[in-house]
Amino acid sequence: MYDVIVLGGGPAGYVAAVRLVEKGFKVALVERKYLGGECTNWGCIPSKALIDLSNNLYSLKALSKAGLSYSIERIDYSRLLKHVERAVIKSREGIKYLLSDVDVFYGVGRVKDVNTVEVLNNSKVVKELTGKNIVVATGTEPNVIPSFKFDGERILSNREFFELKSFPNSIAIIGAGAIGCEISSALAKLGVEVHLIEIMNKILPEVDKDLSDVVHKHLVKQGVKIYTSAQAKYEGVTPDGKEVIVKLSLGSDLIELKVEKVLIAAGRKYNTSGLGLENVGVELDSKGVISVNEFMRTTVPNIYAAGDVTGPPLLAHKAFREGMIVADAIAGVKNPLPRGPIPMVIYTEPEVGLVGLSETQASKAGIAYKVFKFPFIALGRDYASIKSTPEGFVKILIEENTRKMLGAAIVGNAASEVIHLFGMGLTLGLDLTELRKVVTAHPTYSEVFSEVVNEALGEPLHGPRK
Ligand code: NAI
Repeated sequence: MYDVIVLGGGPAGYVAAVRLVEKGFKVALVERKYLGGECTNWGCIPSKALIDLSNNLYSLKALSKAGLSYSIERIDYSRLLKHVERAVIKSREGIKYLLSDVDVFYGVGRVKDVNTVEVLNNSKVVKELTGKNIVVATGTEPNVIPSFKFDGERILSNREFFELKSFPNSIAIIGAGAIGCEISSALAKLGVEVHLIEIMNKILPEVDKDLSDVVHKHLVKQGVKIYTSAQAKYEGVTPDGKEVIVKLSLGSDLIELKVEKVLIAAGRKYNTSGLGLENVGVELDSKGVISVNEFMRTTVPNIYAAGDVTGPPLLAHKAFREGMIVADAIAGVKNPLPRGPIPMVIYTEPEVGLVGLSETQASKAGIAYKVFKFPFIALGRDYASIKSTPEGFVKILIEENTRKMLGAAIVGNAASEVIHLFGMGLTLGLDLTELRKVVTAHPTYSEVFSEVVNEALGEPLHGPRK
């Protein structure tokens, strides 16, 4: 009998397994397809490889504007895709190595009773595992939207997209959330004709408008055609079979697009049905999110859940953290790690970094707060760069009574790194007087931290004067 059986080898499952083995437990892990889940195989890792390529190519454009002329002789797209594939394999192999002391079983896992997990291949039970504890970390999968059916050839999810062997000439991306915006930005810079379609009235609907406006402007500059408040409908393929016809309703206007591929990036659904959870008493909500307490324990005492299956934010590092909490909880650690404020980064160019409450969330919650901003236009490191983002800025929300930070957001270069300074302040519950003690080196992007704290203290340094 195993101490723990983990269902799912994504960021939550493999981290829980690694930590449990470190703590001396005997662990089995059941994985349906590839180790690393969405993040390694079709999400974080391949998208960053693609984004890195496209950003470097885009830097050449900026260089030529700065006086360094060049010409690109040839772009070997299949080699670019090999670079993406290599990153995925590296990540997968790394996880395999980390799991050396875990018994990994490939197949679909199903909970038979509170101590038994069946492993199925082609719908047949091929193995039965018994364990004292079970961890459900089966993640999410792409949402299907009306009228578009994934066919793996022309209508794709992020999964088929990252397994393409060549780049399309044109693509319609439906959904301007994190996936839609990141992939649009990368493909447009690589020369693909990109149409980005969003049903809501702005891109990145969950992000404050002042930030998403900056991303919108840059996406347009990079060549992305954006349609907001737009309803997309599948209208078949062109007579030569080469392109998909997409009808767009934009208020009273109708537009027809012809594109080689359609990528659906319209959210995710939870992989929690068919796992046998309801039969053993694990409580799920109507969307399929598993209810857990602060120790990631479900309504069944020896069954835990971690990662996407416990609900938003659907982020790999949130899954890592929850995997660690599960391991602490099973090991009976007295003070398990808290979930903490979870930062989020959107890897468009410019990047977006978010942590804590947004303005929209703080206003909705009726919290009394003040907002302070510092613009990148006053940031030496940024204006010295050939890829400066003068529209970029950082903003912090300060609670009026406590003078503590409620949240921070950055749109601009290096936002993906700098946001963690704010995350640290937020996690440690520091107020402005404590935050101002931090010295940031000059000239760095991290200086936005000290500068915006100075703004909030009413002691601006390099910021604009009122
Ligand atoms: P999302 O929930 O972030 O965005 C989906 C978008 O599609 C929304 O803007 C929504 O309004 C729109 N939409 C929904 N139905 C539509 C329709 N019929 N027509 C047009 N637009 C429609 O989901 P997304 O981008 O698919 O990403 C999935 C998950 O992965 C998210 O939870 C996201 O947080 C996470 N992710 C995180 C990344 C990061 O941290 N950098 C990168 C990529 C994804």
